[in-house]
Amino acid sequence: MTYRNELVVDDRESGVFRVHRSAMTSPQVLADERAQIFDRCWLYVGHDSEIPKPGDYVRRTVCGRPVIFLRDSAGTVRVHFNTCTHRGATLCREESGNTRVFQCFYHAWSFDTTGRLIVTPGADAYAAGFDRSALGLRAPARVESYRGMFFLNHDEHAVSLLDYLGGTVEYLDLVFDQAEEGMRVVGGTHRYSVGANWKLMVENSIDGYHAPTVHATYIDFVKNSGGGQNKAALGTGAGVDLGGGHTVIESTAAWARPIAYWEPFFGEEARPEIEAKRAALTDRYGVERGTRMAETFRNLLIFPNLVINDVAAITVRRIEPVAPDRVALEAWALAPHEEREGSAALQRRLDSFLTFLGPGGFASPDDVEALESCQQGYAAQPDVAWSDISRGMSRIPLPDDELQIRTFWRAWASVLDSAGFPDRVEGVESPGTTRTSAPAAAGAVRS
Ligand code: FES
Ligand SMILES: [Fe+2]
Repeated sequence: MTYRNELVVDDRESGVFRVHRSAMTSPQVLADERAQIFDRCWLYVGHDSEIPKPGDYVRRTVCGRPVIFLRDSAGTVRVHFNTCTHRGATLCREESGNTRVFQCFYHAWSFDTTGRLIVTPGADAYAAGFDRSALGLRAPARVESYRGMFFLNHDEHAVSLLDYLGGTVEYLDLVFDQAEEGMRVVGGTHRYSVGANWKLMVENSIDGYHAPTVHATYIDFVKNSGGGQNKAALGTGAGVDLGGGHTVIESTAAWARPIAYWEPFFGEEARPEIEAKRAALTDRYGVERGTRMAETFRNLLIFPNLVINDVAAITVRRIEPVAPDRVALEAWALAPHEEREGSAALQRRLDSFLTFLGPGGFASPDDVEALESCQQGYAAQPDVAWSDISRGMSRIPLPDDELQIRTFWRAWASVLDSAGFPDRVEGVESPGTTRTSAPAAAGAVRS
């Protein structure tokens, strides 16, 4: 089967775009995704600020595979698969820490931070053919970084990370350049799982359409707390197809930003500091870029599963498929190094992060409810088999149109079909015709 046409119908002439719901329920689809997408695309592992000192490590699972993200004793950042080369036990069993040696708890084989096997207890039991040097920890085929963000790729022939990131680099720079002393991940991870397919979480992360309904409570809270004063921000901005399946919604900030848009929401005492940050940005980057960094929200998707929300705080969110109907999330707050521990600036940022994007905040529980209800609705297949994602195809996309979501799905289908990444779509996708016939009928449906 081909994913395009059979599971993703993209009829630009008629302005119809729809996705077959088996894409969200089928074990076979998830198996194909693992082979075609997650084994070929660059996948986010972590930021080097999480492991600042030699010997620092964090344990991660990246699209199902256990890894250790660490800085070796000489200071080089590495990724090792977190499995002992003896008989497979998980080698690193702590979430994070600092070590010079990883000793397996099962039979005590030990590895140094470069992955070299250095101890096999009872070494005289092994014959001459036992090659200790070949039993070091394995690493993914490729590991590369941009601005401290480390990604892995299981395909040794993949394009470079920088080429892969393509048009997202402009937006990553708009985030990372906000810091004078560099960005860091603030200690602590938000980790939760949702009874929904991973792509529902991707869609939700770049969906401007749901905010007024699902997040009405938060919007009321902001308004009642002295925020959301910039009425001109409403409906501004656009969704942009960045090519490669990457996409962004950029819009004028509808409420306060720690860097650097003050509203009464943050309190009068914070005003001088935030306005000084804003002035420093325009000094460093000029009025146009500085203002864009200070007063613009960005929701960026790096295909397939990394989201960076640069809104009332900066969130890095990694989306981890677990099962067709289960997704796990990890999220971290990014903050400039100059916002020191215990400072009012960092406190404001983290309050904003928790209030909206935290697992117990105003946004995330409501989003989780929406996603789980979609997943439950998919049980009405095959009688109700398609989701519509055609909003805004016949106009220059607005932030609450669905171009961003179509961008993801077009790349998803194309990569699954081994057809590479589709061309970037700019302007109006469906210039408008009088044709009213339905799109091509669905092909075989997998369950
Ligand atoms: S499985 Fe690790 S030492 Fe045996
Ligand atoms: Fe939401």
